[in-house]
Amino acid sequence: MSWNWPLIRKASTWIFLSGLVAMVALVVAMISTLPRTCNPTIQWYQGNLLYEIFPSSFYSSKGMMHGDLKGIALKSSYLQKLGVKGVRLNSIFNTSNYPLNFEEVTNLTDIAPSLGTIQDFKNMSDELRKRDISVILDLPIYPYIKKLTRKNNDMNNTSGSGSIEFFRRPLRDGEIDNIEHALKHWIKHGVEGFYLKGLEHLADDPNLAESLRAWKRILGQDRIIIVNEHFINTVPKSIINIILNNVDLVDIKLNLLNDTAGIMKQINSIQNSTLFSKPGMPWVHWSLGNVNSQRLANILPHGNATLGATLLQLMLPGTPSIFYGDEIALKEITDEHGDYEDIKHLHQLTMMPWQHNKMKMLSWIHGKVDTVHFEQAEVIKKMVDLRMESPSIYMNSVYKEGVNKANADVKYAKKKFLLVQRWYPRRKSYVVACNLGEEHQSTDLSKLLYSGVIVVGPNIESKLGEVSFEELSLSPGESVVIGLN
Ligand SMILES: *[C@@H]1O[C@H](CO)[C@@H](O)[C@H](O)[C@H]1NC(C)=O
Ligand SMILES: *[C@@H]1O[C@H](CO)[C@@H](O)[C@H](O)[C@H]1NC(C)=O
Ligand SMILES: *[C@@H]1O[C@H](CO)[C@@H](O)[C@H](O)[C@H]1NC(C)=O
Ligand SMILES: *[C@@H]1O[C@H](CO)[C@@H](O)[C@H](O)[C@H]1NC(C)=O
Ligand SMILES: *[C@@H]1O[C@H](CO)[C@@H](O)[C@H](O)[C@H]1NC(C)=O
Ligand SMILES: *[C@@H]1O[C@H](CO)[C@@H](O)[C@H](O)[C@H]1NC(C)=O
Ligand SMILES: *[C@@H]1O[C@H](CO)[C@@H](O)[C@H](O)[C@H]1NC(C)=O
Ligand SMILES: *[C@@H]1O[C@H](CO)[C@@H](O)[C@H](O)[C@H]1NC(C)=O
Repeated sequence: MSWNWPLIRKASTWIFLSGLVAMVALVVAMISTLPRTCNPTIQWYQGNLLYEIFPSSFYSSKGMMHGDLKGIALKSSYLQKLGVKGVRLNSIFNTSNYPLNFEEVTNLTDIAPSLGTIQDFKNMSDELRKRDISVILDLPIYPYIKKLTRKNNDMNNTSGSGSIEFFRRPLRDGEIDNIEHALKHWIKHGVEGFYLKGLEHLADDPNLAESLRAWKRILGQDRIIIVNEHFINTVPKSIINIILNNVDLVDIKLNLLNDTAGIMKQINSIQNSTLFSKPGMPWVHWSLGNVNSQRLANILPHGNATLGATLLQLMLPGTPSIFYGDEIALKEITDEHGDYEDIKHLHQLTMMPWQHNKMKMLSWIHGKVDTVHFEQAEVIKKMVDLRMESPSIYMNSVYKEGVNKANADVKYAKKKFLLVQRWYPRRKSYVVACNLGEEHQSTDLSKLLYSGVIVVGPNIESKLGEVSFEELSLSPGESVVIGLN
């Protein structure tokens, strides 16, 4: 009997090789189906992009003078494309002359009729939820409560501590807390967060802590409370811990009117504050503009610098919030002839000038509007995508060996040049370099950084790729985001 050795050898080699190939294929398949990275998880309101809207100036579903809630529902795809995860409506309540006196709220449940009905509101929040966007509502507690005190004698009684009691705890039989009532009403209609405005005026109220605790209990874990920085700074030390435990975001406005040294000081002092002292603290909610301040495009040296400023904002540790229109460099209305002098305090609430808007619309706030840059929104979207896949950027701090620390460092702030680095253990680091001045800047950063690749910016047409830190060159108002090697 003779064995056909060459054939056997050939066959076994083939069997061996195909086995090997099969195994390699299996491993490759397993690796490719594994979650690509195991990134730390966050809540919907942490690190994600929020967007603040003045509803009367956003979009009118009927081509009328006033924007409305249906209009916001119709523009939900724009918001989704921008990467927005939460829309904040900063004033929807009825007043005697809405929107001109939008702050003089008398009732926390009635919607201004020009915005639509409660059904429109529900429909809007459903439309937004379909796109994974939550609705947040501003509740102007202070001016509202001030108004109530005029109506209700009982409320101007001063308590033992000498401070005015606006909130009463525990509630007496049959007594309702108006704020509590409003929260329940809006939760029923799909609201997932509340910005409680003006609380700093009530910081001395003896029942404040107990009230805030009761409100948070109504909201639960997933719905949020936002307050502003001034409130946190005004609250008595004795109750600050209760406040911080029941608040989810603290709104802080980055002051871009300041020079780079001032901006560095602001970022550093916030990172050094209680908010970053341990895990589980409220996150910072970063704003650059808001309903009461001048528009970003008006305060920056050149209007085109809004993209650079927004890229800087999107590189800060916390939750960024864009004021509607700032993503496209929207300016205040100009009022050359003083026709709108009486509403000077509203000039920043420019109507959003949508492209391809066939309906010729005369806005409630009209005046000359400069060109806007919708193409900037695409760069911002790219930045939002980068943000959401990089723990170095979306996380706000790192907890290690008992120490909590913001994972951001201002590495350089000289002349008008600012450099912020973001990092996270075992992840790629990123820096944002900003020229906040009015002149072209060229800076040698080779002592600080080795090599990197441009991933976003500095402008809309710019080519991405290797960058030299020996001569980093930026036009006025430009920012560039670089992934470090
Ligand atoms: C809104 O306020 C105005 C003026 O106070 C009032 O006349 C009107 O009835 C209110 N509308 C609603 C829906 O509450
Ligand atoms: C607000 O208005 C609604 C309906 O118009 C009314 O039922 C409610 O009592 C009002 N709330 C306050 C505090 O006036
Ligand atoms: C809700 O909105 C959708 C799309 O915007 C619209 O088709 C629908 O008719 C609206 N429903 C109501 C009750 O307004
Ligand atoms: C509350 O203030 C009003 C007007 O200032 C006054 O008429 C009223 O007597 C005060 N009520 C109490 C309980 O002090
Ligand atoms: C004011 O409040 C105190 C304590 O809450 C109470 O004892 C007192 O009777 C009140 N005074 C008036 C005039 O309502
Ligand atoms: C600049 O920043 C410093 C420190 O944060 C602050 O004290 C100052 O008020 C700021 N200046 C302006 C113009 O905002
Ligand atoms: C935080 O404060 C300490 C002491 O005031 C200071 O040495 C440190 O540089 C600050 N850190 C940051 C990031 O500003
Ligand atoms: C903005 O405009 C100014 C003046 O027209 C120009 O010098 C600068 O390069 C522009 N910056 C950007 C970021 O496009």
